[in-house]
Amino acid sequence: MSLSGFNIDGIDVAPGLVLAPMSGVTDSPFRQLVKRASGDAVGMVMSEFISIELLTQRQLSSVIRMSFAESERPVAIQIYGADVGRMAEAARIVEDAGADSVDINCGCPAPKIVRRGGGAGLLKDLPRLAAILDAVNAAVSIPVTIKIRNGWCDDTLNALETLRVAENHGAKAIGIHGRTRMQLYRAEADWNVVREMREAASIPVIGSGDVVDAEGALNRFATTACDGIMIGRGAITNPWIFRQIIDGTEGRERYQPTWRETVELLHFYLEKLLEMYPAKVSPGRMKMMLSRLLKHFPGDPGVRKRCLRMEVPTEMLAHLEQTCLGLGIYDSPKETGVAEVAA
Ligand SMILES: Cc1cc2nc3c(=O)[nH]c(=O)nc-3n(C[C@H](O)[C@H](O)[C@H](O)COP(=O)(O)O)c2cc1C
Repeated sequence: MSLSGFNIDGIDVAPGLVLAPMSGVTDSPFRQLVKRASGDAVGMVMSEFISIELLTQRQLSSVIRMSFAESERPVAIQIYGADVGRMAEAARIVEDAGADSVDINCGCPAPKIVRRGGGAGLLKDLPRLAAILDAVNAAVSIPVTIKIRNGWCDDTLNALETLRVAENHGAKAIGIHGRTRMQLYRAEADWNVVREMREAASIPVIGSGDVVDAEGALNRFATTACDGIMIGRGAITNPWIFRQIIDGTEGRERYQPTWRETVELLHFYLEKLLEMYPAKVSPGRMKMMLSRLLKHFPGDPGVRKRCLRMEVPTEMLAHLEQTCLGLGIYDSPKETGVAEVAA
């Protein structure tokens, strides 16, 4: 078992803990928030998936979605679609933007995407995936990786076959979420498939699914010998999770942020939102973030609702700060518990 990390064709991912791509969540402000909360414990971050159609039309929201800060490195940008030529063109745009690597989404279950052959649809059309990998590798010099599910449905589990295609067509790492497309987020993720892939693979294998605490991460490393672990939903409610996992491996007590640190983190997040989006976007985003971080607020369960009724982000934060001060908990640890995983 090792958390020391791995290498994607020259890019060091150390430790082997990756912020998973999450559409609507892992934009640059959120990724920066996670890096600020967990520091060097985050080995790599991945963007939310970006449509190759929109990216190649230089649609503004896609270009914004592709942006990142230097402090996020190493950063992988994930793209999705099914058209071979456009995929190569989009990958070139990603490379020109300075990303460290480009990832091809082969796991998204959304009907409107799979219907057109993209996302998990590529698991049903491995020749197309092979052609995409060939074209993308010919178009860029940064490493190309893929992220898959373990098959389309229980009758077509083909993670090992997909791994073979990935290796033979130049993918430099593979992420695997051990659920089928049909399962969506139901049942538990299968980590046996991660072990089987690790045994068979010549490239790094990064497991994904249901890791919400240090114990879960260490257990997955030990039982699968995978090179890395992706953490998605666990980081939404607990952006300190990466740091806590490293504490667990090094036998330290789990890091516990204070409420002061939480409020400061939210100010930082607001600053990053305002740098990236028009001002009208920040109240909604701040509400989402506050709502996640204020679950189980001690002593005053109404604070979350009151913050969510406000429209000015700085007022939300001032109210939270005043409430913490009033309760005398500003410098007390914030309970992060086991991060919640909700579909
Ligand atoms: C809201 C949400 C959005 C997601 N978006 C993406 C995505 O854009 N690309 C991708 O490869 N996986 C996406 N996923 C899957 C996650 O990367 C991850 O594989 C999955 O959630 C299991 O890991 P977890 O239990 O740590 O969340 C998404 C998951 C969630 C919950």
